[in-house]
Amino acid sequence: MDIKKSAFSLSAPSIGLCPTDNKIEYAFIGRSNVGKSSLINMLCNHKGLAKTSATPGKTLLINHFIINDSWYLVDLPGYGFAKRSKTVQQKLQQMISSYILQREQLVNLFVLIDIRHEQQKIDREFIDWLGESGVPFTIVFTKADKLGVVKSRQNAEKWMKQLADTWEELPPYFVTSSEKRIGREELLNYIDEINKK
Ligand code: GTP
Ligand code: MG
Repeated sequence: MDIKKSAFSLSAPSIGLCPTDNKIEYAFIGRSNVGKSSLINMLCNHKGLAKTSATPGKTLLINHFIINDSWYLVDLPGYGFAKRSKTVQQKLQQMISSYILQREQLVNLFVLIDIRHEQQKIDREFIDWLGESGVPFTIVFTKADKLGVVKSRQNAEKWMKQLADTWEELPPYFVTSSEKRIGREELLNYIDEINKK
């Protein structure tokens, strides 16, 4: 599958203001600055579609992008950005969790993890929460260009092995780089398979 057409649809401050046309959607979540917006742009081959920034905390709303006129990619705000005020942080967390738990159109969540780092507590807690809540998700390691192919592969495997400490069945995972366009075809084919179900 390829993405021939992608366009911004709307930004919603709450689940109640998301699109109502019942098209299926895939959302991207992860720590601030992990590369969610960049990955959407890379997948769509569309620079500037989702706003990116070197400063964490850029995305603050639930952003819908309509793909090939038939389904959505959704860019979510990052979690775990310490420089936000407590009130803003709590509001964002509430918005993200109600979207994830209640949005019926959401068929799969992509959880982005920076491939350079050891497993972070906040990511692990988030993933454990998804498991407990029964949310279907896939792990996407980002910024693989910063490490190279071999080291990226090793880090991803180590990360997944750690998950196997408590997880009986591991979720699928992908290694990507938006900079070098690594993993694009694999991810799009994966989405295509889900679309066909
Ligand atoms: P928030 O919206 O703030 O939560 O961030 P985000 O997760 O959407 O991250 P964003 O896509 O804005 O990227 C953050 C920074 O990382 C930017 O400076 C990007 O250029 C950089 N970046 C994203 N993906 C990659 C990648 O694959 N490789 C490299 N080298 N840099 C990347
Ligand atoms: Mg963003």
